[in-house]
Amino acid sequence: MERRPGIARIISVQSFKGGTGKSTITANLAVTLAQLGKRVGVIDLDLEGPGLHVIFGVSDDDVSATINDVLQRNVPISQAVLDLSHRLMIKSGCLLFCPAGHKLDEILNILTQDFNLSTFKKVVDDFGRIYRLDYIFIDSHPGVERDTLLAMALCDNLVLISRVDQQDLFGSGVMTEVAGQLKKPVVLILNMVPNSVNEKESKKITTRLAQLFGLDVLTALPFNSDVLESLSKGVFVLERPKDPLTRRFTEIAEKMLEAIESGSHEDYSSSGPASHSVG
Ligand SMILES: Nc1ncnc2c1ncn2[C@@H]1O[C@H](COP(=O)(O)OP(=O)(O)O)[C@@H](O)[C@H]1O
Ligand SMILES: [Mg+2]
Repeated sequence: MERRPGIARIISVQSFKGGTGKSTITANLAVTLAQLGKRVGVIDLDLEGPGLHVIFGVSDDDVSATINDVLQRNVPISQAVLDLSHRLMIKSGCLLFCPAGHKLDEILNILTQDFNLSTFKKVVDDFGRIYRLDYIFIDSHPGVERDTLLAMALCDNLVLISRVDQQDLFGSGVMTEVAGQLKKPVVLILNMVPNSVNEKESKKITTRLAQLFGLDVLTALPFNSDVLESLSKGVFVLERPKDPLTRRFTEIAEKMLEAIESGSHEDYSSSGPASHSVG
Protein backbone atom coordinates (compact mmCIF):
# COMPACT_ATOMS: atom_id res chain seq x y z
CA MET A 1 0.00 0.00 0.00
CA GLU A 2 1.81 3.08 -1.17
CA ARG A 3 1.07 6.38 0.52
CA ARG A 4 0.27 9.52 -1.49
CA PRO A 5 1.63 12.27 0.75
CA GLY A 6 -0.97 14.77 1.89
CA ILE A 7 -3.86 12.75 0.50
CA ALA A 8 -6.13 10.73 2.74
CA ARG A 9 -6.21 7.01 2.17
CA ILE A 10 -9.77 5.92 1.57
CA ILE A 11 -10.80 2.62 3.09
CA SER A 12 -14.17 1.16 2.21
CA VAL A 13 -15.56 -1.41 4.65
CA GLN A 14 -18.06 -3.73 2.99
CA SER A 15 -19.74 -7.11 3.17
CA PHE A 16 -22.14 -9.07 1.02
CA LYS A 17 -24.53 -9.91 3.84
CA GLY A 18 -25.71 -7.65 6.66
CA GLY A 19 -24.82 -7.94 10.33
CA THR A 20 -21.27 -9.14 9.70
CA GLY A 21 -19.70 -6.42 11.86
CA LYS A 22 -18.90 -3.67 9.32
CA SER A 23 -19.96 -0.78 11.54
CA THR A 24 -18.41 -2.29 14.67
CA ILE A 25 -15.08 -2.92 12.93
CA THR A 26 -15.12 0.49 11.20
CA ALA A 27 -15.65 2.31 14.52
CA ASN A 28 -13.05 0.29 16.41
CA LEU A 29 -10.38 0.48 13.71
CA ALA A 30 -10.97 4.19 13.18
CA VAL A 31 -10.68 4.94 16.91
CA THR A 32 -7.58 2.74 17.22
CA LEU A 33 -5.85 4.58 14.37
CA ALA A 34 -6.83 7.92 15.92
CA GLN A 35 -5.40 6.75 19.25
CA LEU A 36 -2.17 5.98 17.39
CA GLY A 37 -2.03 9.66 16.41
CA LYS A 38 -3.70 9.54 12.99
CA ARG A 39 -6.22 12.03 11.66
CA VAL A 40 -9.18 9.85 10.87
CA GLY A 41 -12.48 10.62 9.17
CA VAL A 42 -15.47 8.28 9.14
CA ILE A 43 -18.45 8.51 6.80
CA ASP A 44 -21.62 6.54 7.42
CA LEU A 45 -22.62 5.58 3.89
CA ASP A 46 -25.09 2.93 4.97
CA LEU A 47 -27.81 5.31 3.88
CA GLU A 48 -30.53 2.65 3.95
CA GLY A 49 -29.60 1.42 7.42
CA PRO A 50 -27.29 3.83 9.25
CA GLY A 51 -25.94 2.75 12.62
CA LEU A 52 -22.55 4.30 13.32
CA HIS A 53 -24.14 7.25 15.14
CA VAL A 54 -25.37 4.76 17.76
CA ILE A 55 -21.91 3.24 18.25
CA PHE A 56 -20.33 6.71 18.50
CA GLY A 57 -23.06 7.91 20.89
CA VAL A 58 -24.16 10.77 18.64
CA SER A 59 -27.61 12.15 19.39
CA ASP A 60 -29.91 14.19 17.16
CA ASP A 61 -28.97 17.32 19.15
CA ASP A 62 -25.35 16.91 18.03
CA VAL A 63 -26.27 16.82 14.35
CA SER A 64 -27.03 19.87 12.25
CA ALA A 65 -26.54 18.24 8.84
CA THR A 66 -25.88 14.72 7.56
CA ILE A 67 -24.03 13.15 4.66
CA ASN A 68 -27.45 12.92 2.95
CA ASP A 69 -27.67 16.75 2.95
CA VAL A 70 -24.11 17.00 1.66
CA LEU A 71 -24.69 14.53 -1.18
CA GLN A 72 -28.22 15.56 -2.12
CA ARG A 73 -28.41 19.27 -1.35
CA ASN A 74 -24.85 20.53 -1.80
CA VAL A 75 -24.55 21.39 1.89
CA PRO A 76 -20.81 21.89 2.65
CA ILE A 77 -19.21 18.88 4.30
CA SER A 78 -18.04 21.08 7.21
CA GLN A 79 -21.66 21.41 8.34
CA ALA A 80 -22.01 17.67 8.71
CA VAL A 81 -18.65 16.93 10.32
CA LEU A 82 -18.68 16.16 14.04
CA ASP A 83 -15.40 16.25 15.90
CA LEU A 84 -15.67 13.36 18.34
CA SER A 85 -12.00 13.49 19.42
CA HIS A 86 -12.73 15.02 22.81
CA ARG A 87 -15.68 12.75 23.57
CA LEU A 88 -13.73 9.67 22.54
CA MET A 89 -10.68 10.86 24.49
CA ILE A 90 -8.42 10.89 21.44
CA LYS A 91 -5.29 12.76 22.42
CA SER A 92 -2.83 13.21 19.58
CA GLY A 93 -4.89 12.18 16.54
CA CYS A 94 -8.47 13.09 15.78
CA LEU A 95 -11.74 11.42 14.89
CA LEU A 96 -14.17 13.31 12.67
CA PHE A 97 -17.51 11.69 11.93
CA CYS A 98 -20.01 12.41 9.20
CA PRO A 99 -23.32 10.80 10.19
CA ALA A 100 -26.11 9.66 7.88
CA GLY A 101 -29.75 10.62 8.24
CA HIS A 102 -31.59 7.94 10.19
CA LYS A 103 -35.14 9.27 10.02
CA LEU A 104 -37.64 7.54 7.75
CA ASP A 105 -38.14 10.51 5.41
CA GLU A 106 -34.36 10.89 5.02
CA ILE A 107 -33.95 7.21 4.19
CA LEU A 108 -36.87 7.22 1.74
CA ASN A 109 -35.50 10.35 0.13
CA ILE A 110 -32.18 8.74 -0.65
CA LEU A 111 -34.00 5.97 -2.50
CA THR A 112 -35.54 8.42 -4.92
CA GLN A 113 -32.82 11.09 -5.22
CA ASP A 114 -29.63 10.09 -6.91
CA PHE A 115 -26.09 11.28 -6.43
CA ASN A 116 -23.29 10.32 -8.73
CA LEU A 117 -19.67 9.31 -8.48
CA SER A 118 -18.28 12.78 -9.19
CA THR A 119 -20.43 14.35 -6.43
CA PHE A 120 -19.36 11.67 -3.99
CA LYS A 121 -15.72 11.95 -5.01
CA LYS A 122 -15.72 15.71 -4.47
CA VAL A 123 -17.30 15.31 -1.03
CA VAL A 124 -14.75 12.70 0.06
CA ASP A 125 -11.87 14.72 -1.41
CA ASP A 126 -13.08 17.85 0.42
CA PHE A 127 -13.37 15.92 3.67
CA GLY A 128 -9.77 14.71 3.38
CA ARG A 129 -8.32 17.99 2.19
CA ILE A 130 -10.11 20.41 4.55
CA TYR A 131 -9.36 18.38 7.66
CA ARG A 132 -5.99 17.07 6.45
CA LEU A 133 -7.01 13.51 7.12
CA ASP A 134 -4.69 10.53 6.98
CA TYR A 135 -7.53 8.02 6.64
CA ILE A 136 -11.15 8.11 5.60
CA PHE A 137 -13.27 5.10 6.48
CA ILE A 138 -16.47 4.59 4.54
CA ASP A 139 -18.98 2.29 6.23
CA SER A 140 -21.44 0.72 3.80
CA HIS A 141 -24.75 -0.95 3.20
CA PRO A 142 -24.40 -4.70 2.62
CA GLY A 143 -24.34 -6.27 -0.83
CA VAL A 144 -23.67 -4.92 -4.29
CA GLU A 145 -25.76 -1.80 -4.82
CA ARG A 146 -25.25 1.75 -6.04
CA ASP A 147 -23.63 3.26 -2.94
CA THR A 148 -21.35 0.30 -2.30
CA LEU A 149 -20.21 0.42 -5.92
CA LEU A 150 -19.49 4.15 -5.59
CA ALA A 151 -17.52 3.56 -2.38
CA MET A 152 -15.66 0.71 -4.05
CA ALA A 153 -14.86 2.81 -7.10
CA LEU A 154 -13.51 5.62 -4.94
CA CYS A 155 -11.54 3.73 -2.32
CA ASP A 156 -7.86 2.90 -2.21
CA ASN A 157 -8.44 -0.28 -0.23
CA LEU A 158 -11.42 -2.49 0.31
CA VAL A 159 -11.84 -4.25 3.64
CA LEU A 160 -14.34 -7.10 3.29
CA ILE A 161 -15.96 -8.46 6.42
CA SER A 162 -17.31 -11.98 6.52
CA ARG A 163 -18.49 -14.45 9.10
CA VAL A 164 -17.39 -18.07 8.75
CA ASP A 165 -20.65 -18.81 6.98
CA GLN A 166 -21.32 -20.19 3.53
CA GLN A 167 -23.70 -17.35 2.57
CA ASP A 168 -21.16 -14.74 3.66
CA LEU A 169 -18.19 -16.44 2.11
CA PHE A 170 -19.72 -17.05 -1.30
CA GLY A 171 -20.93 -13.45 -1.20
CA SER A 172 -17.41 -12.32 -0.40
CA GLY A 173 -16.35 -14.10 -3.58
CA VAL A 174 -18.83 -11.95 -5.52
CA MET A 175 -17.60 -8.75 -3.86
CA THR A 176 -14.00 -9.72 -4.59
CA GLU A 177 -14.90 -10.23 -8.25
CA VAL A 178 -16.35 -6.71 -8.45
CA ALA A 179 -13.32 -5.26 -6.65
CA GLY A 180 -11.07 -7.11 -9.08
CA GLN A 181 -12.85 -5.51 -12.04
CA LEU A 182 -12.32 -2.11 -10.41
CA LYS A 183 -8.69 -3.09 -9.68
CA LYS A 184 -9.03 -2.43 -5.96
CA PRO A 185 -6.88 -4.29 -3.44
CA VAL A 186 -8.99 -6.34 -1.03
CA VAL A 187 -8.32 -7.71 2.42
CA LEU A 188 -10.75 -9.99 4.20
CA ILE A 189 -11.46 -9.86 7.92
CA LEU A 190 -13.26 -12.89 9.29
CA ASN A 191 -15.47 -11.83 12.15
CA MET A 192 -17.41 -13.61 14.88
CA VAL A 193 -15.41 -16.82 14.52
CA PRO A 194 -17.26 -19.24 16.85
CA ASN A 195 -15.50 -19.94 20.12
CA SER A 196 -15.67 -23.65 19.33
CA VAL A 197 -13.10 -23.02 16.59
CA ASN A 198 -9.67 -22.94 18.22
CA GLU A 199 -6.80 -20.75 17.04
CA LYS A 200 -5.16 -23.54 15.01
CA GLU A 201 -8.41 -24.36 13.22
CA SER A 202 -9.06 -20.67 12.69
CA LYS A 203 -5.65 -20.32 11.00
CA LYS A 204 -6.41 -23.35 8.81
CA ILE A 205 -9.74 -21.86 7.71
CA THR A 206 -8.01 -18.55 7.04
CA THR A 207 -5.34 -20.16 4.84
CA ARG A 208 -7.95 -22.16 2.91
CA LEU A 209 -10.06 -19.09 2.29
CA ALA A 210 -7.05 -17.08 1.19
CA GLN A 211 -6.29 -19.76 -1.42
CA LEU A 212 -9.91 -20.13 -2.50
CA PHE A 213 -10.49 -16.44 -3.12
CA GLY A 214 -6.90 -15.50 -3.90
CA LEU A 215 -7.01 -12.69 -1.38
CA ASP A 216 -5.31 -11.56 1.72
CA VAL A 217 -7.04 -12.61 4.93
CA LEU A 218 -5.97 -9.87 7.32
CA THR A 219 -7.18 -11.52 10.49
CA ALA A 220 -9.87 -13.66 12.10
CA LEU A 221 -11.67 -12.01 15.01
CA PRO A 222 -13.47 -14.21 17.54
CA PHE A 223 -17.09 -13.95 18.54
CA ASN A 224 -17.05 -11.83 21.69
CA SER A 225 -20.18 -11.82 23.82
CA ASP A 226 -19.21 -8.47 25.40
CA VAL A 227 -19.38 -6.85 21.95
CA LEU A 228 -22.87 -8.23 21.42
CA GLU A 229 -23.98 -7.38 24.95
CA SER A 230 -22.82 -3.78 24.57
CA LEU A 231 -25.94 -3.39 22.36
CA SER A 232 -23.83 -1.29 19.95
CA LYS A 233 -23.59 1.46 22.57
CA GLY A 234 -20.02 2.64 22.61
CA VAL A 235 -16.74 1.76 20.98
CA PHE A 236 -15.40 -1.53 22.32
CA VAL A 237 -11.70 -0.56 22.35
CA LEU A 238 -12.53 2.42 24.56
CA GLU A 239 -14.87 0.51 26.85
CA ARG A 240 -12.55 -2.51 27.20
CA PRO A 241 -8.97 -1.33 26.73
CA LYS A 242 -7.50 -4.47 28.32
CA ASP A 243 -9.60 -7.01 26.40
CA PRO A 244 -7.66 -9.32 24.02
CA LEU A 245 -10.00 -8.15 21.22
CA THR A 246 -8.80 -4.58 21.75
CA ARG A 247 -5.24 -5.85 21.30
CA ARG A 248 -6.37 -7.45 18.03
CA PHE A 249 -7.68 -4.11 16.77
CA THR A 250 -4.34 -2.52 17.66
CA GLU A 251 -2.54 -5.26 15.72
CA ILE A 252 -4.72 -4.69 12.64
CA ALA A 253 -4.18 -0.93 12.84
CA GLU A 254 -0.43 -1.36 13.24
CA LYS A 255 -0.34 -3.75 10.27
CA MET A 256 -2.17 -1.14 8.20
CA LEU A 257 0.24 1.59 9.23
CA GLU A 258 3.24 -0.61 8.60
CA ALA A 259 2.02 -1.26 5.06
CA ILE A 260 1.60 2.41 4.29
CA GLU A 261 4.51 4.67 3.61
CA SER A 262 4.74 7.30 6.34
CA GLY A 263 4.11 10.91 5.41
CA SER A 264 3.74 13.92 7.66
CA HIS A 265 0.74 16.18 7.82
CA GLU A 266 0.71 19.66 9.27
CA ASP A 267 -0.75 19.97 12.73
CA TYR A 268 -4.43 20.72 12.81
CA SER A 269 -5.69 22.50 15.87
CA SER A 270 -9.31 22.62 17.01
CA SER A 271 -9.35 26.25 15.91
CA GLY A 272 -8.80 25.00 12.36
CA PRO A 273 -11.51 24.21 9.81
CA ALA A 274 -15.12 24.23 10.95
CA SER A 275 -16.50 21.12 12.59
CA HIS A 276 -18.89 20.69 15.47
CA SER A 277 -16.99 19.52 18.52
CA VAL A 278 -19.10 17.09 20.46
CA GLY A 279 -18.06 17.01 24.08
N1 LIG B 1 -16.76 -10.02 17.02
C1 LIG B 1 -18.02 -9.90 17.43
N2 LIG B 1 -18.51 -10.69 18.42
C2 LIG B 1 -19.80 -10.58 18.82
N3 LIG B 1 -20.67 -9.72 18.32
C3 LIG B 1 -20.26 -8.91 17.33
C4 LIG B 1 -18.91 -8.94 16.83
N4 LIG B 1 -18.80 -8.00 15.85
C5 LIG B 1 -20.01 -7.42 15.75
N5 LIG B 1 -20.88 -7.94 16.64
C6 LIG B 1 -22.30 -7.59 16.83
O1 LIG B 1 -23.00 -8.00 15.67
C7 LIG B 1 -24.06 -7.10 15.38
C8 LIG B 1 -23.91 -6.57 13.96
O2 LIG B 1 -22.75 -5.77 13.90
P1 LIG B 1 -22.66 -4.48 12.97
O3 LIG B 1 -21.31 -3.93 13.15
O4 LIG B 1 -23.82 -3.59 13.21
O5 LIG B 1 -22.80 -5.18 11.54
P2 LIG B 1 -23.03 -4.53 10.11
O6 LIG B 1 -22.60 -3.11 10.19
O7 LIG B 1 -22.19 -5.35 9.19
O8 LIG B 1 -24.49 -4.69 9.82
C9 LIG B 1 -24.01 -6.01 16.45
O9 LIG B 1 -24.93 -6.35 17.47
C10 LIG B 1 -22.57 -6.10 16.96
O10 LIG B 1 -22.46 -5.68 18.31
MG1 LIG C 1 -23.65 -1.36 9.72
